[in-house]
Amino acid sequence: MNNSSGSPLKAFIMWYRIREYRDADYSAVRMIYTSGFREHVGTVYLLALKQPWIQAMLCGLCLLIYFLTGSILTVILCVGGVMLAIRMAVQYIFEQGIQLGLREDLLDIRNSYMQPGSRSCFWVAELKGSIVGTVGILPCVEEPGAWELKRISVKKEFRGRGLAKDLCKSALEFVARHNVKRVVLFTSMVQTDAHKLYDRIGFKKEEEFVWPSLPARLINFMVFKYAHRNGVMSC
Ligand SMILES: CC(C)(COP(=O)(O)OP(=O)(O)OC[C@H]1O[C@@H](n2cnc3c(N)ncnc32)[C@H](O)[C@@H]1OP(=O)(O)O)[C@@H](O)C(=O)NCCC(=O)NCCS
Repeated sequence: MNNSSGSPLKAFIMWYRIREYRDADYSAVRMIYTSGFREHVGTVYLLALKQPWIQAMLCGLCLLIYFLTGSILTVILCVGGVMLAIRMAVQYIFEQGIQLGLREDLLDIRNSYMQPGSRSCFWVAELKGSIVGTVGILPCVEEPGAWELKRISVKKEFRGRGLAKDLCKSALEFVARHNVKRVVLFTSMVQTDAHKLYDRIGFKKEEEFVWPSLPARLINFMVFKYAHRNGVMSC
């Protein structure tokens, strides 16, 4: 498969192919998933800093330290230290999330997605022998009877050229062939490029909820559920 974008900003043709996963792709797939996930750390950190209770805590801390020491420099150092600690906490939670994915379906990709006769599959986008994008589909644990699109990620330098759209197209064609009527996916409030992709290929947001964990509740971290009803791409 190949793609050339119509946009003058992307005015070159990039030859790539979408193909099914092979064992040799294992490390590349896990690496693309990890880097795609990790790039949202900064946005989640800003989300944390926007929480009224965190802002109130930082203001209270400023006043308390100034009251105790009378030193602006000490105030700056302490507040800077607390902000750094918040950043490290967000990073730590992200790493836990990444490890979870790597221990779930991505631990044994062949077994999770590529069993003969199963209605699950994993695809990669290959460009000049390198893996630059991924997507998988498998029965949804949270919603029996539906299939879930997972692990959609494209290396940063190859974005905006239709790779994710083509990867999703392969997955949606696959489920249409298997007579699957409903495809869902879960994404978070910070994955805004992905929301545009999902809108573009015919998914509709159905639910929004705060991720059920204490750190997520503390920063009001929302997860969105999208659904695609007929398994046929709308573009
Ligand atoms: C989301 C992601 C996979 C999109 O990959 P991509 O290859 O750049 O997407 P495409 O080029 O196929 O774009 C498809 C459509 O999505 C929309 N889109 C994607 N990224 C966009 C952006 N940054 N700005 C505006 N629209 C965007 C466009 O409508 C585009 O269609 P069009 O060009 O025909 O209008 C990529 O940004 C990524 O890997 N992000 C990090 C990992 C991640 O968050 N994954 C989602 C997990 S839920």
